[in-house]
Amino acid sequence: MNIIDGKKLSAEIREQMTARAAAYEARVGRKAGLAVVLVGEDPASQIYVRNKIAACEQVGVRSYAYYLPADAMQAQLDELIDTLNADKNVDGILVQMPLPKHLDEQATLKRIAPDKDVDGFHAVNAGRLMQGQDCLAACTPSGIIELIRSTGTPIAGKHAVVVGRSNIVGKPVAMLLLKNDATVTICHSKTPDLASFTRQADILVAAVGRKELITGDMVKPGAVVIDVGMNRVDGKLYGDVAFESVSKIASYITPVPGGVGPMTITMLLKNTLDAAEHAER
Ligand code: GUN
Repeated sequence: MNIIDGKKLSAEIREQMTARAAAYEARVGRKAGLAVVLVGEDPASQIYVRNKIAACEQVGVRSYAYYLPADAMQAQLDELIDTLNADKNVDGILVQMPLPKHLDEQATLKRIAPDKDVDGFHAVNAGRLMQGQDCLAACTPSGIIELIRSTGTPIAGKHAVVVGRSNIVGKPVAMLLLKNDATVTICHSKTPDLASFTRQADILVAAVGRKELITGDMVKPGAVVIDVGMNRVDGKLYGDVAFESVSKIASYITPVPGGVGPMTITMLLKNTLDAAEHAER
């Protein structure tokens, strides 16, 4: 069994992004720009936003941070998004989720110009992904594809089983695997006899948010196993995969932490540069 090192892969890709950011700046005369919007003071969101801004700094992307109070009105948020949509220095826009309860997440995501939607959450980008068109794809799913590629295992012709059907991970990663010519099965919390599906997986992606749901007896020998789980129990982080038992069966497996997690912000940087370069044309 081999552990897929998400931190190492992330660092390698960030080096490539640094070169792309510098080339962009030399060509265009300004840095590629990412606007990050945080509404309210959710502690986890504050950490995510801080990490995203630091990542921009690291590779030479300019970040524009906007902090709105927890009681901000939808109209205020909409106006900010409209301004950022029109701002030529801003190539990517990200509104940190979740929003305070009184705000409308769907309406907010819809307001972002699709070509600046570096999270890939806009219905237009989800639709483009579904149709196999070029698009800004969601960051965690794109990171998962990079992690699988890093093993040297071809995706084409493989049976990929995705456990989880969220709009943020399960559905888009299934579409990306399909785009890469895998045969894809999507399972979820209401799938009966889940193990009968997971045991067929050459590539198994676990993204259901259930601590150590996937155990060794549910995995095909030699499978590539990607664990997207982030289940915090008593301050400790657990994946959706029982690492102990599954690592004995799989050919490659991502650890939690240090697998999928580090890739997400790296792919956000890639999407920002993709958006900036796309806008040049
Ligand atoms: N909240 C948790 N993950 C994410 C993400 O990837 N993007 C945004 N905008 N909010 C999040």
